[in-house]
Amino acid sequence: MTLLLGPPGAGKTSLLLALAGTLPSSLKMSGDIIYNGHTMDEFVPRRSAAYVSQHDLHMAELTVRETVNFSAKCQGIGHRFDLLMELSRREKEENIKPDPEIDIYLKAAATGEQKAEVVTNHILKVLGLDICADTLVGNNMLRGISGGQKKRVTTAEMLVTPGRALFMDEISTGLDSSTTFQIVNSIRQTIHIIGGTAVIALLQPAPETYELFDDIILLSDGQVVYNGPREHVLEFFKSMGFKCPERKGVADFLQEIKGNTG
Ligand SMILES: Nc1ncnc2c1ncn2[C@@H]1O[C@H](COP(=O)(O)OP(=O)(O)OP(=O)(O)O)[C@@H](O)[C@H]1O
Ligand SMILES: [Mg+2]
Repeated sequence: MTLLLGPPGAGKTSLLLALAGTLPSSLKMSGDIIYNGHTMDEFVPRRSAAYVSQHDLHMAELTVRETVNFSAKCQGIGHRFDLLMELSRREKEENIKPDPEIDIYLKAAATGEQKAEVVTNHILKVLGLDICADTLVGNNMLRGISGGQKKRVTTAEMLVTPGRALFMDEISTGLDSSTTFQIVNSIRQTIHIIGGTAVIALLQPAPETYELFDDIILLSDGQVVYNGPREHVLEFFKSMGFKCPERKGVADFLQEIKGNTG
């Protein structure tokens, strides 16, 4: 799980789009992108990678549940369903009483037909969207869910996909730090269970959110300034002559370094 940091215009969106294989063909690109040793033309990156856009584009007339369900049905749900089934199998083995919520999912799942619905419900719950599941998404003309909820619908739409490489662009805009923490934390858990990859661009992550990441990429003017483990980032910049002041969040400090170098 990697945190992508950089000032506006540094090239975060461009990098994420390139990695997800969705960079517009009109743009020139150099270098190679390899997924586990396979180049982009050997498989369909759109099926294995999910790019969560910085902007929310939705059908205003659909409810939250319909939006996510539509996405699940179109893109497929892959391993998530199997994950839930595996959970129930192990719980039976260990004689653990399942959480009533999960139990309901599994009973629904047992009928087989409603796979997409089961996964949709699970994702809505994880992102805290269950309270507005049947509210219209809305737009400027049509009153719907709040801005922060809309942001989470954008994330939910891509989280239901079978992709194991997630690229998320500023998913925290319009959310408070505790909601961001919860969302990033649940993404972290899913990623670690399925052995996936997530690159998440965040503006001003709180220290506890920052601590959730394994790796950091710091961009400045389109150049990668740092790419490596989170633990070594302070040491690295100290050796370059940038010392993080006490009582300052590391993420804020990193965002400021670009100002000094630029
Ligand atoms: N089609 C294009 N043609 C020319 N320049 C472009 C094009 N698309 C993006 N750029 C430029 O590339 C740079 C990086 O843009 P990008 O959207 O990746 O920044 P960002 O880090 O995502 O910024 P923000 O945090 O504001 O979203 C910007 O200077 C932008 O103007
Ligand atoms: Mg951007």
